[in-house]
Amino acid sequence: MPPAAGSRPRSDADARVIAPPGRRLCEVTGNRQTGGYRIFSALDAAGPEPRAGQFYMLSAADAWGQRSGRPYLPRAFSVAEAHAADAGVRLDFLVEDVGPGTERLADLRRDEGLWVTGPLGRPFSYPRELGSDLAGAILVGGGVGLAPLAIHRRQLVERGVPVRTLVGFRDREHSGGVEELFGCCEVRLASEDGHVGHRGYVTELLAVLLEGDAARTAAVYACGPPAMLEAVRALCVEREVEAELAMEAPMACGFGACYGCAVPLAAGGYMRLCTDGPVVSAAEIETALVPGSGH
Ligand SMILES: Cc1cc2nc3c(=O)[nH]c(=O)nc-3n(C[C@H](O)[C@H](O)[C@H](O)COP(=O)(O)OP(=O)(O)OC[C@H]3O[C@@H](n4cnc5c(N)ncnc54)[C@H](O)[C@@H]3O)c2cc1C
Ligand code: FES
Repeated sequence: MPPAAGSRPRSDADARVIAPPGRRLCEVTGNRQTGGYRIFSALDAAGPEPRAGQFYMLSAADAWGQRSGRPYLPRAFSVAEAHAADAGVRLDFLVEDVGPGTERLADLRRDEGLWVTGPLGRPFSYPRELGSDLAGAILVGGGVGLAPLAIHRRQLVERGVPVRTLVGFRDREHSGGVEELFGCCEVRLASEDGHVGHRGYVTELLAVLLEGDAARTAAVYACGPPAMLEAVRALCVEREVEAELAMEAPMACGFGACYGCAVPLAAGGYMRLCTDGPVVSAAEIETALVPGSGH
């Protein structure tokens, strides 16, 4: 299933940070609860600083495969924050326990070992790379999908880009990370059960924003469950708003070898999400409803 060639615009975003070959053993430096999720941190002594939107393949050094051999393969995780210091790069990950791999990662203890491969994949672009008149950014996060938007927001703010942040949660159990990952910045919240912010979908907040000037002056960046991403994709394509989506698909290898992460392109053909994504242009994909992804 070859990926379609020449079907997507290229930008500086393709100046991705390249992973060193092989996996590296990192030391877990922290793990804390945030609402219904956990944030764990690891010190990557030998790896480069990632760009926002890139991901890592992760597995615990011990007791990986403890549930009758599951999980066998490493699991894909977006980097939520990265801070370079003398001892290495501190990487933060936001995890939702949905199965054997995420359960083990959510349970990591300080000083344990964590195998990492990465950073992998294509990062987010900056607004000016998507359009010369795009000065601002609108971030739209759903559930645990707010992870890559946290590091993206910080990197945008550091470059002086005005950012508006919209975050939606299903219910209280499936929420968390806003204060820890976004700090003191203003975040507009929505929840389907009304436990916080606007009662309804975060995409309703986005639709209101796009009624105004934002549709012509800002790029949209989204990460979250497939149904939310598909709503963002449809809204932005219909209104001709530049948008990038950080997507998920089942990933066995993470570096282009297995073709397990194929996503259909609007122009026909497929891309491998691990190498041509996970950040994709909303206009280039046929749908964000990728079979086998989302939970
Ligand atoms: C690029 C990328 C970045 C990701 N970032 C994060 C993150 O920051 N935090 C986080 O908690 N999770 C993230 N995920 C999802 C995470 O990799 C899956 O939840 C994990 O692989 C599930 O493994 P498991 O062994 O716990 O459960 P499994 O038993 O393997 O799966 C449990 C459920 O999750 C679904 N699922 C499995 N793999 C994926 C997948 N890759 N994407 C979506 N749904 C899946 C399955 O359909 C099943 O319903 C990311 C996935 C990708 C591809
Ligand atoms: S995960 Fe193997 S090719 Fe993408």
